[in-house]
Amino acid sequence: MTDTPLERRGDTRMPRTSSFLRLEESDIREIQRTVPVVAPHLDSLVEDVYDQMTSFGEFAVLFQQAHVSTGESIDVRVATLKSWLLRVLEMIESNPAELARFLATTGASHAGVGPGKVYVPMRLMVLTIAYLEVGLLRALADAGAAAAVAWHKLLWVALDGMASAYGADPAWDRSAPEATG
Ligand code: HEM
Repeated sequence: MTDTPLERRGDTRMPRTSSFLRLEESDIREIQRTVPVVAPHLDSLVEDVYDQMTSFGEFAVLFQQAHVSTGESIDVRVATLKSWLLRVLEMIESNPAELARFLATTGASHAGVGPGKVYVPMRLMVLTIAYLEVGLLRALADAGAAAAVAWHKLLWVALDGMASAYGADPAWDRSAPEATG
Protein backbone atom coordinates (compact mmCIF):
# COMPACT_ATOMS: atom_id res chain seq x y z
CA MET A 1 0.00 0.00 0.00
CA THR A 2 1.35 3.44 -0.95
CA ASP A 3 1.66 6.03 1.80
CA THR A 4 -0.26 9.26 1.34
CA PRO A 5 1.80 12.48 1.19
CA LEU A 6 0.57 13.24 4.70
CA GLU A 7 1.84 9.94 6.03
CA ARG A 8 5.15 10.38 4.27
CA ARG A 9 5.50 13.81 5.84
CA GLY A 10 4.95 12.33 9.32
CA ASP A 11 7.43 9.61 8.45
CA THR A 12 10.21 12.06 7.68
CA ARG A 13 9.48 14.52 10.40
CA MET A 14 9.54 12.19 13.41
CA PRO A 15 13.15 11.02 13.11
CA ARG A 16 14.23 14.64 12.68
CA THR A 17 12.23 15.83 15.69
CA SER A 18 13.39 12.87 17.81
CA SER A 19 16.95 13.69 16.87
CA PHE A 20 16.54 17.37 17.84
CA LEU A 21 15.05 16.45 21.23
CA ARG A 22 17.61 13.67 21.65
CA LEU A 23 15.01 11.01 22.24
CA GLU A 24 17.34 8.05 22.58
CA GLU A 25 17.21 4.35 23.37
CA SER A 26 17.92 5.16 27.02
CA ASP A 27 14.77 7.36 27.08
CA ILE A 28 12.69 4.58 25.58
CA ARG A 29 13.99 2.21 28.25
CA GLU A 30 13.07 4.77 30.94
CA ILE A 31 9.56 5.02 29.53
CA GLN A 32 9.21 1.24 29.48
CA ARG A 33 10.54 0.99 33.02
CA THR A 34 7.97 3.47 34.27
CA VAL A 35 4.87 2.41 32.32
CA PRO A 36 3.87 0.29 35.37
CA VAL A 37 4.21 3.43 37.53
CA VAL A 38 1.85 5.38 35.26
CA ALA A 39 -0.60 2.54 34.52
CA PRO A 40 -2.63 2.69 37.80
CA HIS A 41 -3.18 6.43 37.25
CA LEU A 42 -4.08 6.27 33.59
CA ASP A 43 -7.89 6.18 33.83
CA SER A 44 -8.14 9.08 36.28
CA LEU A 45 -5.48 10.99 34.41
CA VAL A 46 -7.27 10.82 31.06
CA GLU A 47 -10.65 11.55 32.66
CA ASP A 48 -9.13 14.64 34.25
CA VAL A 49 -7.87 15.81 30.84
CA TYR A 50 -11.41 15.60 29.46
CA ASP A 51 -12.98 17.24 32.52
CA GLN A 52 -10.61 20.11 32.01
CA MET A 53 -11.28 20.30 28.26
CA THR A 54 -15.04 20.21 28.59
CA SER A 55 -15.00 22.94 31.23
CA PHE A 56 -13.41 25.36 28.76
CA GLY A 57 -15.72 26.80 26.11
CA GLU A 58 -13.18 26.73 23.26
CA PHE A 59 -12.86 22.94 23.66
CA ALA A 60 -16.46 22.18 24.61
CA VAL A 61 -17.93 23.78 21.51
CA LEU A 62 -15.86 21.46 19.32
CA PHE A 63 -17.07 18.39 21.17
CA GLN A 64 -20.66 19.60 20.78
CA GLN A 65 -20.12 19.96 17.03
CA ALA A 66 -18.61 16.49 16.86
CA HIS A 67 -21.53 14.99 18.82
CA VAL A 68 -23.88 16.27 16.18
CA SER A 69 -21.87 14.65 13.41
CA THR A 70 -20.76 11.43 15.11
CA GLY A 71 -23.18 10.86 18.01
CA GLU A 72 -20.20 9.95 20.18
CA SER A 73 -20.24 10.59 23.90
CA ILE A 74 -17.41 12.03 25.97
CA ASP A 75 -16.88 8.52 27.40
CA VAL A 76 -15.90 7.39 23.92
CA ARG A 77 -13.42 10.28 23.61
CA VAL A 78 -11.89 9.40 27.01
CA ALA A 79 -11.41 5.78 25.91
CA THR A 80 -9.97 7.01 22.61
CA LEU A 81 -7.37 9.22 24.25
CA LYS A 82 -6.35 6.41 26.59
CA SER A 83 -5.96 3.93 23.76
CA TRP A 84 -4.04 6.57 21.74
CA LEU A 85 -1.49 6.87 24.54
CA LEU A 86 -1.20 3.09 24.89
CA ARG A 87 -0.61 2.74 21.14
CA VAL A 88 2.06 5.45 21.19
CA LEU A 89 3.80 3.60 24.03
CA GLU A 90 3.62 0.32 22.17
CA MET A 91 4.84 1.70 18.83
CA ILE A 92 7.65 3.95 20.01
CA GLU A 93 9.65 0.84 20.67
CA SER A 94 8.30 -1.71 18.23
CA ASN A 95 7.59 0.33 15.12
CA PRO A 96 8.60 4.01 15.00
CA ALA A 97 7.70 4.33 11.30
CA GLU A 98 4.20 3.10 12.05
CA LEU A 99 4.05 5.53 14.96
CA ALA A 100 4.85 8.43 12.64
CA ARG A 101 1.97 7.43 10.35
CA PHE A 102 -0.36 6.94 13.32
CA LEU A 103 0.45 10.41 14.66
CA ALA A 104 -0.02 12.05 11.26
CA THR A 105 -3.40 10.31 10.94
CA THR A 106 -4.49 11.42 14.42
CA GLY A 107 -3.39 14.94 13.55
CA ALA A 108 -5.43 14.80 10.35
CA SER A 109 -8.55 13.87 12.36
CA HIS A 110 -8.19 17.20 14.14
CA ALA A 111 -6.82 19.40 11.35
CA GLY A 112 -10.08 19.42 9.41
CA VAL A 113 -8.61 17.16 6.72
CA GLY A 114 -11.46 15.47 4.88
CA PRO A 115 -15.14 16.32 4.47
CA GLY A 116 -17.11 16.82 7.68
CA LYS A 117 -14.00 16.66 9.83
CA VAL A 118 -13.83 18.86 12.89
CA TYR A 119 -11.12 21.55 12.93
CA VAL A 120 -9.31 21.72 16.27
CA PRO A 121 -6.91 24.69 16.38
CA MET A 122 -3.32 23.67 17.02
CA ARG A 123 -3.24 25.82 20.15
CA LEU A 124 -5.83 23.49 21.73
CA MET A 125 -3.75 20.45 20.77
CA VAL A 126 -0.72 22.04 22.46
CA LEU A 127 -2.72 22.79 25.62
CA THR A 128 -4.12 19.26 25.74
CA ILE A 129 -0.70 17.63 25.50
CA ALA A 130 0.66 20.10 28.06
CA TYR A 131 -2.15 19.25 30.50
CA LEU A 132 -1.70 15.52 29.91
CA GLU A 133 2.01 15.90 30.54
CA VAL A 134 1.43 17.65 33.88
CA GLY A 135 -0.71 14.68 34.98
CA LEU A 136 1.90 12.19 33.83
CA LEU A 137 4.69 14.05 35.61
CA ARG A 138 2.66 14.02 38.83
CA ALA A 139 2.21 10.27 38.49
CA LEU A 140 5.96 9.95 37.91
CA ALA A 141 6.92 12.18 40.86
CA ASP A 142 8.93 9.44 42.59
CA ALA A 143 10.31 7.80 39.44
CA GLY A 144 13.36 10.04 38.98
CA ALA A 145 14.38 12.86 36.67
CA ALA A 146 15.41 10.59 33.79
CA ALA A 147 11.87 9.23 33.56
CA ALA A 148 10.34 12.72 33.56
CA VAL A 149 12.74 13.83 30.82
CA ALA A 150 11.98 10.76 28.70
CA TRP A 151 8.17 11.14 28.94
CA HIS A 152 8.50 14.84 28.16
CA LYS A 153 10.43 14.07 24.97
CA LEU A 154 7.92 11.42 23.91
CA LEU A 155 4.92 13.70 24.35
CA TRP A 156 6.50 16.52 22.39
CA VAL A 157 7.54 14.19 19.59
CA ALA A 158 3.93 12.97 19.55
CA LEU A 159 2.58 16.52 19.43
CA ASP A 160 4.93 17.42 16.60
CA GLY A 161 3.89 14.27 14.73
CA MET A 162 0.24 15.35 14.98
CA ALA A 163 1.19 18.91 13.99
CA SER A 164 2.54 17.51 10.70
CA ALA A 165 -1.08 17.25 9.54
CA TYR A 166 -1.62 20.99 9.96
CA GLY A 167 0.66 21.97 7.11
CA ALA A 168 4.04 21.32 5.60
CA ASP A 169 7.21 22.75 7.06
CA PRO A 170 9.39 22.31 3.98
CA ALA A 171 12.80 22.95 5.49
CA TRP A 172 12.17 20.56 8.39
CA ASP A 173 10.10 17.90 6.67
CA ARG A 174 12.34 17.46 3.65
CA SER A 175 15.49 16.95 5.72
CA ALA A 176 16.92 13.53 5.19
CA PRO A 177 16.65 11.58 8.47
CA GLU A 178 20.09 10.05 7.90
CA ALA A 179 21.60 13.54 7.88
CA THR A 180 20.33 14.34 11.38
CA GLY A 181 22.79 12.33 13.38
C1 HEM B 1 -3.74 16.74 21.72
C2 HEM B 1 -4.15 15.62 22.13
C3 HEM B 1 -5.23 14.81 21.46
C4 HEM B 1 -5.14 13.51 21.14
C5 HEM B 1 -3.93 12.62 21.36
C6 HEM B 1 -6.39 13.11 20.54
C7 HEM B 1 -6.67 11.84 20.07
C8 HEM B 1 -7.76 11.52 19.31
C9 HEM B 1 -7.95 10.27 18.61
C10 HEM B 1 -6.97 9.10 18.64
C11 HEM B 1 -9.12 10.35 17.95
C12 HEM B 1 -9.80 9.26 17.10
C13 HEM B 1 -9.64 9.58 15.65
C14 HEM B 1 -8.33 9.09 15.13
O1 HEM B 1 -8.00 7.92 15.38
O2 HEM B 1 -7.61 9.83 14.50
C15 HEM B 1 -9.69 11.65 18.22
C16 HEM B 1 -10.86 12.13 17.69
C17 HEM B 1 -11.42 13.33 18.04
N1 HEM B 1 -10.90 14.28 18.85
FE1 HEM B 1 -9.08 14.25 19.69
N2 HEM B 1 -7.24 14.19 20.52
C18 HEM B 1 -6.58 15.25 21.07
C19 HEM B 1 -7.07 16.54 21.23
C20 HEM B 1 -8.34 16.93 20.93
C21 HEM B 1 -8.89 18.25 21.18
C22 HEM B 1 -8.13 19.40 21.81
C23 HEM B 1 -10.18 18.22 20.74
C24 HEM B 1 -11.23 19.29 20.76
C25 HEM B 1 -11.33 20.26 21.60
C26 HEM B 1 -10.43 16.91 20.21
C27 HEM B 1 -11.61 16.49 19.65
C28 HEM B 1 -11.77 15.33 18.94
C29 HEM B 1 -12.94 15.03 18.14
C30 HEM B 1 -14.15 15.93 17.98
C31 HEM B 1 -12.72 13.78 17.56
C32 HEM B 1 -13.64 13.04 16.60
C33 HEM B 1 -13.15 13.38 15.20
C34 HEM B 1 -13.91 12.70 14.11
O3 HEM B 1 -14.46 11.63 14.36
O4 HEM B 1 -13.91 13.23 13.01
N3 HEM B 1 -9.29 16.15 20.35
N4 HEM B 1 -8.84 12.33 19.05
